[in-house]
Amino acid sequence: MEPVIRVENLVKRYASRELGRRAAAFTAVDSVSFSILPGSTLALVGESGSGKSSVALCLACLEPVTSGQIWFDGRDVAALSERESRAVRPKLQIVFQDPATSLNPRWTVGEIVAEPLLVKGRVANRERRERAAQGLERVGLGAEYLERRPAELSGGQRQRVAIARALILEPKLLILDEVLSALDCSIQGQIANLLVELQRALGLAYLFITHDLRMAAHLADEIAVMSRGKIVEQGAVETILRGARCAETQNLLGASLVDRETEAVRER
Ligand SMILES: Nc1ncnc2c1ncn2[C@@H]1O[C@H](COP(=O)(O)OP(=O)(O)OP(=O)(O)O)[C@@H](O)[C@H]1O
Ligand SMILES: [Mg+2]
Repeated sequence: MEPVIRVENLVKRYASRELGRRAAAFTAVDSVSFSILPGSTLALVGESGSGKSSVALCLACLEPVTSGQIWFDGRDVAALSERESRAVRPKLQIVFQDPATSLNPRWTVGEIVAEPLLVKGRVANRERRERAAQGLERVGLGAEYLERRPAELSGGQRQRVAIARALILEPKLLILDEVLSALDCSIQGQIANLLVELQRALGLAYLFITHDLRMAAHLADEIAVMSRGKIVEQGAVETILRGARCAETQNLLGASLVDRETEAVRER
């Protein structure tokens, strides 16, 4: 089977922000390679600052790539111009951690979910509304949510709206950057289950980004562990959990155990 996306030796450097000095550029992503098969999930895990979101932004054409290739839909996305990348973006959608800031507070849920159709052009008002209602239904929200605004929704509902919006152009790959991290434990489980259902129904591939190795193990087929811009360990979920060869992976395992314990204390 052909992978949906194949990343080869991806490098992302940021120009240093130090004013007046020509400091060396900072390497956030250092020669990262992976691929994801249709209908499967790769979890990218790593501590804060390890470069996970930088990978996500490069894949979604939201940050220019320093070097390397991103093969998607028969093309190297990293080499496309701004204009050319517009044709690719609909098939490769990204959802962020905090829907409170990624959803326009002045718009209705219906407008938010249907907005990608506007950008695509020539979809009549009525059809947009119908497709928004269908999209909401797919994520477990009824048509009664069409006229609401983000402020009137719970965190979990907002994340459902963000997912509905990401799916409206029928992408092949969803990049999920810490989409569960801002949610309460019980809501995390609900959204995780929704993601699994959607993947089965639509045959989506996921790049699931998290610092929670346990959640990664629950959702993913494969795990890649990032540390300081590099993938330090990569393989099937069982192999990574059983082996945990790297200190980085062991730390992450330890950290997610601590997460669980604090949750348990909070629930009591
Ligand atoms: N626009 C930018 N300009 C300069 N440096 C940046 C920029 N964006 C990120 N960085 C740096 O690149 C490194 C990787 O950041 P990135 O956001 O990719 O990490 P992350 O793994 O997503 O972290 P987190 O788990 O906290 O979200 C960090 O050291 C960060 O400070
Ligand atoms: Mg991040």
